[in-house]
Amino acid sequence: MAQNIGTSTRSLHADDALNVVSDVAPPMHLATTFRYSDDPAKLFPVADLSDSGLDPTSHIYSRASAPNPTRFETILSALLNGTAISYSSGLSALHAALTLLNPRRISVGEGYHGCHGVIALFTRLTGLQKLPLDCPADQLEAGDVILLETPLNPKGTAYDIASYAQKAHSRGAYIIVDGTFAPPGLQDPFLWGADLVMHSGSKYFGGHSDILCGVLATQNEDWSKQLFHDRVFLGSVMGNMESWLGVRSLRTLEVRVQRQSKNTARLVQWLATALHAPNAAPGSDEAAVQSVLGEVFHASLQDEGEWLKKQMPNGFGPVFSICMKEEDLAKTLPSKLHFFQHATSLGGVESLIEWRTMSDATVDRKLLRISIGLENWEDLRNDLVKAFRELRA
Ligand SMILES: Cc1ncc(COP(=O)(O)O)c(C=O)c1O
Repeated sequence: MAQNIGTSTRSLHADDALNVVSDVAPPMHLATTFRYSDDPAKLFPVADLSDSGLDPTSHIYSRASAPNPTRFETILSALLNGTAISYSSGLSALHAALTLLNPRRISVGEGYHGCHGVIALFTRLTGLQKLPLDCPADQLEAGDVILLETPLNPKGTAYDIASYAQKAHSRGAYIIVDGTFAPPGLQDPFLWGADLVMHSGSKYFGGHSDILCGVLATQNEDWSKQLFHDRVFLGSVMGNMESWLGVRSLRTLEVRVQRQSKNTARLVQWLATALHAPNAAPGSDEAAVQSVLGEVFHASLQDEGEWLKKQMPNGFGPVFSICMKEEDLAKTLPSKLHFFQHATSLGGVESLIEWRTMSDATVDRKLLRISIGLENWEDLRNDLVKAFRELRA
């Protein structure tokens, strides 16, 4: 799609060429297998097909390709500025990325604990060695990988993609950017040197807390062919129903994420200002915040140079974290809230809060992760303040 076409227009029209029926809403295809042509002249054995000649409206078996996942990938390719390949989950996307690159070393920070689980699997199978994210460049060798998650789970703080890309490339290594917390519209890792972009599509791409999927995107044509080929044998394809729901969700990606990002910026700003307000009057909202809250984490609060504004010019991710003064306050807060559901995951239209230690053994037990949805931000603020007051009552 032309470079000057906007994100929402891409979401709505990148798949126009796949409209083979007159339905305005794309149909769901549940078939696992597809009839070959009745015309013998149109039967082409797979060995005679070239990758470039493949017709995206023609399918053989759904572990290789199917109409709904293909539509989902077509839209995502236009949104991510690279060929997108979908998977059954974010972690299966990372598994496929490491299968493709098969590095000997991987430099990686904290971030989502599940990604470390995938890395541990590879360590068991291949001896993959884990290095810290800020290891000296000369510990990396050609073919190694930096896995950079930005913004970072669970705090929502951001890292400079260009500087890590430069470090990787100076050694002939590659950089995979896990951009789950900043979907298209907020951040394009390819602009800053990413070799592979990864997303847990279970978050903002799905956007309604009802599908599990993952995505890889690359601008390297050989890699995208290999990834499609590998996926046939990994078998980690996205389901038909999930990708049908995924297409429906992508249509509204930009408006959802913009609103979620704005809501988050307002709420984070309000909380941080209240937390640091001097001489808070007894009984005030600020005093309620200061009585229970220890710290707020989010990219919008980072005091960083120009790179952050350039990397995220349209706003920051809709996830942030708070640290309470005591563990018990963190454990109790979710039960006092009405508009935040106590659950893991993020990226849906409804706001979630998670006492993070429930699902991540590695984090501070005073930490709560918050994923902001589409509610009116003032209602979320009032809900939090009321809960803070109740905690100290
Ligand atoms: C940053 C990040 N990457 C990857 C994943 C894994 O995605 P999935 O749960 O779709 O496998 C998650 C899930 O929470 C995540 O937050």
